[in-house]
Amino acid sequence: MTIYCLGSINIDNFYAVPHLPAPGETIVSSEFRQGLGGKGVNQSVAANKAGSEVRHVGAVGRADDRVLNWLQDLGLNTDWIARISETETGHANISVDAHGENAIVIAAGANATVRADHPVVRPILDRLDAEVTSTDTLMLQNEIPAQPRLAKACRDKGARVIYSAAPFEGRAVREILPHITTLVVNAVEAEQLSAELETDIAQIPVPQLLVTRGPDGAEYHSDGQVFHARPVAVEPVDTTGAGDTFAGYFAAGLDQGMSIQQSLDLAAKAAALKVTRRGTADAIPTRAEVDAFR
Ligand code: RIB
Repeated sequence: MTIYCLGSINIDNFYAVPHLPAPGETIVSSEFRQGLGGKGVNQSVAANKAGSEVRHVGAVGRADDRVLNWLQDLGLNTDWIARISETETGHANISVDAHGENAIVIAAGANATVRADHPVVRPILDRLDAEVTSTDTLMLQNEIPAQPRLAKACRDKGARVIYSAAPFEGRAVREILPHITTLVVNAVEAEQLSAELETDIAQIPVPQLLVTRGPDGAEYHSDGQVFHARPVAVEPVDTTGAGDTFAGYFAAGLDQGMSIQQSLDLAAKAAALKVTRRGTADAIPTRAEVDAFR
């Protein structure tokens, strides 16, 4: 079984700051570091570290060997990554305060070219469409253009289609919602979605719904049943990528035949461990670390 994750690839620039900047304020950071991120890559890395077979599908900018090397160092196959000559790799500037909270600004770069009408990307999307089977999973997020046609094609084949509505964008969610099996939102996105669709979050028309609630755990709605991930208390140093870690580990748990409850508890532990570390993709814990935790 394979998890195809179609999503963003970012260079993450981290700035450690005493507090998040107010409008018009300039702050000197006490530490700067760079790493690999993007909600798509983070989910791929999490699912891969959890032990699933993962294909990350996405795009990087011209001559960005450094990013391809980073992806390989993190264990991801780069055969499914388009190299786009007319733009740069996406990046994110991430301020992280003393409590581990963040504020993120993204430049999409090559992520914006992940569309079926792009000549370099199209063959990769066609290959994904051709190779997906009913035992596979497709993961999507909102940092690349919406992919309703591909989501529908994969769902029609019987694959699990997991979509994270992050960053939240009402039009993109409306477009893809009819074609997914599982919607993933955090508490803030759940409220945004309720307002957008003018309905209670539990009434959203989707077969499965996962709401992650940071330190308060998560809940999963499926066929009228509600499952809860046990909250895992930790001292946070950086919450960036915790939701992606949860989504990737949860998808991997289901992919590996674990029960919903086992998958939720595995994902909650992985996300909790992540927030005790600075960074994104390279800070996501391995399966051995998660299994040994608590
Ligand atoms: O969810 C965290 C991610 O959001 C970061 O890795 C950054 O690249 C942004 O996409």
